[in-house]
Amino acid sequence: MNYNKKTVYDIDVAGKKVLLRCDFNVPQDKATGAITSDKRIVAALPTIRYLLGQGAAVIACSHLGKPEPSFEKWVKKQAEKGKDPAELTEEKWQKSLKKLTLAPVAERLSELLGKPVIFAHDVVGPDAKAKAAALRGGEIMLLENTRFEKGETKNDSALAKELASMAEVYVSDAFGSVHRAHASTAGVAAYLPAVSGLLVAKELEVMGKALDDPTRPFVAVLGGAKVSDKIAVINNLLEKADTVIIGGGMAYTFAKAQGGEIGKSLLEEDKCAYALEMIEKAKAKGVKLLLPVDTVAAKEFAADAEPVVVDAMHIPADMMGMDIGPKTIELFCAATRGAGTIVWNGPMGVFEFPAFANGTKAMAKALAESGAVTIIGGGDSAAAAEQLGFADKITHISTGGGASLEFLEGKELPGVACLLDK
Ligand code: 3PG
Repeated sequence: MNYNKKTVYDIDVAGKKVLLRCDFNVPQDKATGAITSDKRIVAALPTIRYLLGQGAAVIACSHLGKPEPSFEKWVKKQAEKGKDPAELTEEKWQKSLKKLTLAPVAERLSELLGKPVIFAHDVVGPDAKAKAAALRGGEIMLLENTRFEKGETKNDSALAKELASMAEVYVSDAFGSVHRAHASTAGVAAYLPAVSGLLVAKELEVMGKALDDPTRPFVAVLGGAKVSDKIAVINNLLEKADTVIIGGGMAYTFAKAQGGEIGKSLLEEDKCAYALEMIEKAKAKGVKLLLPVDTVAAKEFAADAEPVVVDAMHIPADMMGMDIGPKTIELFCAATRGAGTIVWNGPMGVFEFPAFANGTKAMAKALAESGAVTIIGGGDSAAAAEQLGFADKITHISTGGGASLEFLEGKELPGVACLLDK
């Protein structure tokens, strides 16, 4: 994929209306709706400040959560979940939408910017249109949740046109959403000159270099629960890396595939053949593929379960693997020493339980101390590095979970492909 795309620095935005797609899909407290991490809002600030400083009028937009914009479909989905159809009223549906308003994001953004953020109560309706028309250079507004529009996730061209009609330039800075071909992330680029914001540009530069021209040795550390989630990533990284380390839940499928006993550990039986194929591919390509040699197992999936170190190929029948063992930690950490580039995606164990966080913690520490260019591909491993206190020692932590995974898979990202080439 070509990620050499024009950025906000390559076009003149002074005095222009700029539609800026951000990823303000922030985590919220279920009960109160309060934003529990404003990291994604903070990550958008450099582009917003740049655009405002250039005298642009910024019309920001984003999705939040997965609202269902059709009442009929909402009823159907709720009924499928076992809810009593008699209780599925229009009022309840409206309430479910209200929970996903971007109004709290506008408020937080305003606090961070130290200036008012005008909030539109619709996406392309009369309120948004009137506020966008009145917006002046140096001012910023935020549209309501783009997924309140039925056409958003369908990449509906009529919605894309309506969004575009409010602006003269489109800037994509929602890295976390560039893997989505939606009206506000990709469709709109058909109607406006489209460039990347500074966050997207940085993500593409750092991760693109790691994949295309890494400082070697290039070590990829892959974890997480399922082989099926990481199939394309393992495959793509075996083409690029010098060493591929596999830990986390998916390592048990690799052990089973090689004739190991894995007890009650996670297993994707139908992925055993694939695991063997990857082992063969690594051999054929001369890539070092490292798998756990020991495992911290427990009798039950619980924070207070007793951790027992066992051989990775002989996990007792009544136990399940919960983390990589001490010998594996040594093996994996040694493989990161002297690396030029390390990409990490997916935790090594159930790091949410302190007794089973050692493997993930050790990997985060190894990355932090490696002296290599270190990249963490969003999602759980980013959360782990932050929770364990190593985040500030990592070269780049991606703001995209699904997006960074698809990037590492080598897939074309619709929200990037639609931007103007340099
Ligand atoms: C994310 O949180 O990964 C992005 O905002 C994309 O959200 P989505 O999975 O709802 O499209």
